[in-house]
Amino acid sequence: MRAEDPQLVRLADYRPSDFLIDTVDLDVNLDPHATRVTARLKVRPNPEGRENAALALDGDELKLVSVAIDGAELEADAIEVSPERLSIANPPRGPFELTIVTKIDPTANTRLMGLYRSNASYTTQCEAEGFRRITYFLDRPDVLAVYTTRIEGPTDETPLLLSNGNLMETGPAGRGRSYAVWHDPHPKPSYLFALVAGDLAKVSDTFVTLSGRTVAVEVFVEHGKEDRAPYALDAIKRSMRWDEEVFGREYDLDVFMVVAVSHFNMGAMENKGLNVFNDKYVLASPETATDGDYANIEAIIAHEYFHNWTGNRITCRDWFQLCLKEGLTVFRDQEFTSDTRSRPVKRIQDVRALRAAQFAEDSGPLAHPVRPQAYAEINNFYTPTVYEKGAEVIRMLKVLIGPEAFKAGMDLYFDRHDGQACTIEQFIACFAEVSGRDLGQFMLWYHQAGTPEVTIRTAYDAAAKTFTVTAAQRVPATPGQPTKQPAVVPMVTGLVGPDGADMPLVIAGAPAGPVFALTEAETTLVFEQVPVRPAASLFRNFSAPVKLSTDLTDDDLLFLAKSDSDPFNRWQAGQTVALRNLVARVDAQRAGAPAPEEPRLAEAVARAFDPSETDHAFAAQVAALPSEGDVAREIGEDVDPDAIHAARAALKLDLARRLAGPLAAAFERLVDEGPYSPDAASASRRALKISALDYLAAGGAPDGVARAKALYDGATNMTDRIMALQVLSLSASDARDAALADFHDRYKSDPLLIDKWFLIQASAPLPDTLDRVRALMTTPAFDIRNPNRVRSLVGAFGSGNPTQFNRADGLGYAFVAEVARELNGTNPQVAARLLGAFKTWRALEPVRRGKAEAALRAVAAAPGLSPDVGDIVRRALG
Ligand code: ARG
Ligand code: ZN
Repeated sequence: MRAEDPQLVRLADYRPSDFLIDTVDLDVNLDPHATRVTARLKVRPNPEGRENAALALDGDELKLVSVAIDGAELEADAIEVSPERLSIANPPRGPFELTIVTKIDPTANTRLMGLYRSNASYTTQCEAEGFRRITYFLDRPDVLAVYTTRIEGPTDETPLLLSNGNLMETGPAGRGRSYAVWHDPHPKPSYLFALVAGDLAKVSDTFVTLSGRTVAVEVFVEHGKEDRAPYALDAIKRSMRWDEEVFGREYDLDVFMVVAVSHFNMGAMENKGLNVFNDKYVLASPETATDGDYANIEAIIAHEYFHNWTGNRITCRDWFQLCLKEGLTVFRDQEFTSDTRSRPVKRIQDVRALRAAQFAEDSGPLAHPVRPQAYAEINNFYTPTVYEKGAEVIRMLKVLIGPEAFKAGMDLYFDRHDGQACTIEQFIACFAEVSGRDLGQFMLWYHQAGTPEVTIRTAYDAAAKTFTVTAAQRVPATPGQPTKQPAVVPMVTGLVGPDGADMPLVIAGAPAGPVFALTEAETTLVFEQVPVRPAASLFRNFSAPVKLSTDLTDDDLLFLAKSDSDPFNRWQAGQTVALRNLVARVDAQRAGAPAPEEPRLAEAVARAFDPSETDHAFAAQVAALPSEGDVAREIGEDVDPDAIHAARAALKLDLARRLAGPLAAAFERLVDEGPYSPDAASASRRALKISALDYLAAGGAPDGVARAKALYDGATNMTDRIMALQVLSLSASDARDAALADFHDRYKSDPLLIDKWFLIQASAPLPDTLDRVRALMTTPAFDIRNPNRVRSLVGAFGSGNPTQFNRADGLGYAFVAEVARELNGTNPQVAARLLGAFKTWRALEPVRRGKAEAALRAVAAAPGLSPDVGDIVRRALG
């Protein structure tokens, strides 16, 4: 999108609302096709707004029935109304009551924004701009009101009527209908409103808060799925306790509810007191959920719960500030998981995910700052940059100012801004104040897009006993930002001596570090009193989200992989050696030269499978090679996904051959584990076992395939079953087809399990995958109206299958583009997300690049593009 496009909403144009709404009384009369919504709003002019302004309310596909001010219905000439807007030219200049009646059709709402009906239940999704699909409103996050909600519906279909806050009243409403009244005393923006009505089962417990209040904790699921709710319920209670202990934040209503719904555009939503979840992130039992599912559920439950303070009690002034709640809340959920499970492993997993999604986004045409300056469609900014890079920025802040100042800053923020709609500047000011630091340069992390590239040169002077580290940083150009300034980059550094111990860090005769803030384009650190050349351990614990290249040798790295006291860098060192080897293999292959080998990599990987290694989760991370995407990003341009796939497969096979004995021994040792438990230690053991199996079956080795088949057939839990199937699915074999057929027969009645079956087939790097995916789309198990189905099949193919999406004939691109066009009309948000598969298309080799561009151009030329899809294709082609 060009900068001058008039459709853009700009941060620079922010001005306060001309009116405020103090209370909202909603009356929602449910009907599948004609739900009637009566909104009584107490409105008053905003002293900070413009005088004598018209009252302009937002709408989206709305039908107005009537509008009245202080009880007097307005004539047609007093208002201007369309589905998108209700404007009142001359409203009273003091407080007044505005009553609006609208009629909506929840069954026809396939966009899953606003009020929609799926599987006979009613659900709302209002973030970011869905409330305006329920009633005309000042649908912006800086208008905070107290809501009272009366819901009425047919007792047989909707015995359960939920909204935000505390239940005030409930009972029969006559003619076979019931009603409930909910009151939420906490002023909130409209995006946090929620309503759920249906026939659901409740699984509940209680939680006693720090100050001794008893809170009801309730999870709602479909009848018959009650046995899959306890894990989520327990995760809520553990999140509540953790937020009290670590951030001093207590829950503030009598009840906290989580509802699992089958049709949901995103992961979950933090509506006040009534979180709505994609059922995939609630339902878990050993027979149906993998270890990864358990971990995701715990993390997302925590994330949405933590929003109660970071997002709900303190919300965003405008949508440009989205990272104020999202980056901070991701940081908080990552910390929760780190305290609950293994901190180093969580860090490694988060960095892998950051690189895969955010670094990729940051390197291509969709790059944008953590706080964007302009948007055409806000739904397209719920991105890895806002969320995950947003969390990295918070983590850097903590590293830079130290944990005590960070805690003091958070406390000040909660104290000062509770009940307000805030900006990033207000948030950062709290930390500047408590730390006495100037955080002006730090703000660049919010303004500048692109992943900083840090290049390190080192030099040891044996005579002077100095070790010099020169760090150069450069932020690449991104769309709309051709030139950049150096950011403040916290580089946590250790110098590891030959004995593996950290040397004391001395600069200018005084103890220094370990945090060094790089603030210039080039920084030189001269470490003194260094008796022997050390191995530099840089950016420990991934202290900044940068792309690092160093002059460390493979010898240095292999030494660090064994000896670094920082577990993250122990892992990273091995990955860097593997990545270098993979890039060299790709180069050799494209040049027709023999594959370069790095036999010492096998030693590093062997350590992961050694019986003496007791941290199985960490070992599994060490054993896992960099992904094909990692290699593609390292290469950066003229990318050939087939060559990368071949190189990685060859390295894997090479390692499997070198380590055949230890791998088989490790698998045998780990395979029998007794009864299933989803706890972290057991999950770790399974992760390492699967890693061994994955190597053993590399290249379709018959022995490994046989082991995978045996694990599949004898599986007592979903992790083993799905992981064995995953291993089998990598190569075409009879065992693969048999296992896929068996999985389908076992689980065909469970859509979340069929999603796993879809995903495995859609991600297989096999030439018939596209045909298979197309065929699966025509089976009854697929439903294009359900985002989970679409993501598992089409999303996984587009974003999780580098060779087949990037087929040289371009058919992969054409397919994803075609599905996005089909969904453009019914669910534009999901359509736009599918097109995220194209975020790195410019880095491809010319033939594929041409085909990808043609597919994008075909979408751009299609008639009737939604704002969501239009925005993505325009920027992708930009
Ligand atoms: N606030 C939610 C979360 O992070 C995400 C909701 C986004 N929804 C949307 N339609 N853009 O948990
Ligand atoms: Zn969130």
